[in-house]
Amino acid sequence: MALLKLDIYAVRNILKESILPAPTMNFIVGDNASGKSAIIEAIFILGRAKSYRSASIKSVINFAQHFLIVSGQILEANGSHTHIGIQLDNKSFCCRINQQTIQKKSELAYALPLQIIHPKSYELLDAGPQYRREFLDWGVFNYNENFLLAWRNFKKALLQRNTILKSKDVKQLNVWDKELVYYGTIVNNHRQAYLEKFKPVFLIIINQFLNLEDIDLKIIPGWNTKNEFKQALNDDLNMDLRYGFTHSGPHRADIQLLVGNRLAKDVVSRGQLKLLVLSLKLAQVQLLADEQGALGCFLIDDFAAELDAINRAKLLHFLSNMGCQVFITATDITHLGDLTKLNNYKMFHVEHGNIKQV
Ligand SMILES: Nc1ncnc2c1ncn2[C@@H]1O[C@H](COP(=O)(O)OP(=O)(O)O)[C@@H](O)[C@H]1O
Ligand SMILES: [Mg+2]
Repeated sequence: MALLKLDIYAVRNILKESILPAPTMNFIVGDNASGKSAIIEAIFILGRAKSYRSASIKSVINFAQHFLIVSGQILEANGSHTHIGIQLDNKSFCCRINQQTIQKKSELAYALPLQIIHPKSYELLDAGPQYRREFLDWGVFNYNENFLLAWRNFKKALLQRNTILKSKDVKQLNVWDKELVYYGTIVNNHRQAYLEKFKPVFLIIINQFLNLEDIDLKIIPGWNTKNEFKQALNDDLNMDLRYGFTHSGPHRADIQLLVGNRLAKDVVSRGQLKLLVLSLKLAQVQLLADEQGALGCFLIDDFAAELDAINRAKLLHFLSNMGCQVFITATDITHLGDLTKLNNYKMFHVEHGNIKQV
């Protein structure tokens, strides 16, 4: 799977540009504030219909415009082509895949599975659990297509249950508890099954970057695991009624990365933490390739900002071996290291929002 053509309209300082990326490595070089991250943002929008750095799309749309458009031609693993076009403004999302209007963002994510590393990604292990859930669920979602439906049904039941908790109409709870337990258990099982597959892939990758003993990954399902989910709901009932929401469940899940039985974030150095996060993300793309034959697209914004030269070289080597499509930005071409062993890469230069292939 590779993005072979990318058209950008009104994304940050990029007014209207079109590029033909390589199916392998793509390097985007330019001064600070030239528009490198804007290109990465445009690709990210194509796969996820949102920005990775601004919560509201408004700040992404060029100041002089009211909407942005990103479109792309994608070569799928089976040799077919997919055309995606997305138009976003403050209020609406309009997306077409192969001339068909789609309503759900999830369809987009299947058409262009992408993973990103940017300076804030490294907060994954010390930020709140929702980031790690999002990370985990991206993997589960791509690994098992049944996950999404179970998750949606779970969320629906959760919403209903919370409404009932607020109205204190306890009699009705029973029905929704059944739904919640049914779908919540499925969601948790999918996550556990994914983690079992994910862990060995991750351990192989982390060993290429770090020499750490005794690394483990665990899912915290979101309830006291001494009991079944149903029992946890019963135990929490008074608290749930008092606060008007459901305290236990897969919506509260987390993953823990442990080193020597302690949370990695408490015991490893900043540099090691970054390599752990990097390996987590690489492992997701690797697993996708191993299991689905789908090579995702890997975006790295600000290549040099966070990794030293040795690890950058290792990372390039790893990515070129994996064969997935990669987009990497840097302010200086020398940050990219020795490119002589890479073949078929493309280099783009950005200046004031103008992109030129060099
Ligand atoms: N909505 C916007 N409209 C126009 N310009 C913007 C918008 N948002 C940011 N910019 C500007 O776009 C330029 C490129 O930003 P960015 O892509 O982050 O640069 P880089 O990653 O190359 O350092 C910056 O000068 C920034 O101030
Ligand atoms: Mg940038």
